[in-house]
Amino acid sequence: MHTPEQEAHRLDEADPGHRHLFHVPPADGGDHPESAYLAGNSLGLQPRATRDELLADLDAWGRLGVEGHLEAERAWLPYHELLTAPAARLVGGRPAETVVMNSLTVNLHLLMVSFYRPAGTRTRIVIEDAAFPSDSYAVRSQARFHGLDPDDTVIRLRPRAGEDALRTEDVTDYLAAEGDRVALVLLGGVNYLTGELLDIPAITAAGRAAGAVVGWDLAHAVGNVPLALHDWDVDFAAWCSYKYLNSGPGALAGVFVHERHLGDPDLPRFEGWWSTAAATRFEMTPVSRPPATVEAWQISNPPIFAMGPVRTSLELFDTVGMTALRARSLRLTGWLESLLDEVTADRPLRVVTPRDPARRGCQLSVRIGAGSAAELTKRLRYEHGVIADAREPDVVRFAPVPLYSTYHDCWRAAAALAATVGQVAS
Ligand SMILES: Cc1ncc(COP(=O)(O)O)c(C=O)c1O
Repeated sequence: MHTPEQEAHRLDEADPGHRHLFHVPPADGGDHPESAYLAGNSLGLQPRATRDELLADLDAWGRLGVEGHLEAERAWLPYHELLTAPAARLVGGRPAETVVMNSLTVNLHLLMVSFYRPAGTRTRIVIEDAAFPSDSYAVRSQARFHGLDPDDTVIRLRPRAGEDALRTEDVTDYLAAEGDRVALVLLGGVNYLTGELLDIPAITAAGRAAGAVVGWDLAHAVGNVPLALHDWDVDFAAWCSYKYLNSGPGALAGVFVHERHLGDPDLPRFEGWWSTAAATRFEMTPVSRPPATVEAWQISNPPIFAMGPVRTSLELFDTVGMTALRARSLRLTGWLESLLDEVTADRPLRVVTPRDPARRGCQLSVRIGAGSAAELTKRLRYEHGVIADAREPDVVRFAPVPLYSTYHDCWRAAAALAATVGQVAS
């Protein structure tokens, strides 16, 4: 009979993942040299390859100066194109629909310039009540930008009484009843707080059937769950690369625009010199001639040293493959769930992430019945070397990331939680 810890080691031998490709931070407490790092939903770990790849780009600048635009081994002018195909594969977009640029909220604004076009009584923007605050601020400011009152314009969908996560029907029923007032649906594919994965194709279909535009914030979905944005008919999507894509703090983000919108001359868009077709960029003419691709949404020349880590990371996803990662993710998160079930049974703790694996990514969120989530994560870190993160006031998030997390990390997290939160007398 194995102890749970021995069982974790056995599972790690049988299903090892790719931890050796990453730098794992040393532990700040507890009995193990490395952290049990379960915060990749906040900031992914650094791939070991990133430093050398980045230094190679930096060296090209030292060696070539301005000539690096054309002569660097990875020439800077077309550098972003190296990221397009792997990013498109990851989100299920076509290369013409996918580009890496800017940061997430900036991209959401640029996309809303094109796709939030309130008219007549169709003015509403539908988000989740538990939307990430940046999205809430963004849509409220877009409403104000159009001279609308954000309190009337932004509809925040709440889970049913006594439930923690939205049901797909909660969204589709709203759209069936009120859809003729809705201009834009903008939801998180995987919710940052609960870890819930929404039914993206079903909600997209319902929103479009109601005559609305449907966009997705995929910050917590990309690199976490398989995506098929083109086939799902999504109008637009944006994501960041610093979470599951392991491209570093504040890393460059990604954008998808469905091909039915590409080349549409009636779509308003903000432009700069990177919006014009590459072949026309140095003609120095006053009027741009944008390509019929998502590159028309680009504005500035991209920061090469920020593109490098995204490129390195996307290559890794290409090598390992999202199908294999999702399969390991289901096993790893299922194992963590089984351990948390035991810990939460007699403690003031409750997993609020849906139990159905099809309705979640890798993250499990635990709501604590007493005390502060920030205080608890501090103790997990300094007493046990477990890195999870707190979303105040009462949620602690654990994300076993299939690229680098281990079964033993999950065991350590559950054991640390059990040791830190007192049992309730039965
Ligand atoms: C769901 C979601 N949307 C938006 C953001 C904000 O992203 P950025 O600061 O890159 O614009 C985050 C950041 O964590 C997020 O989790």
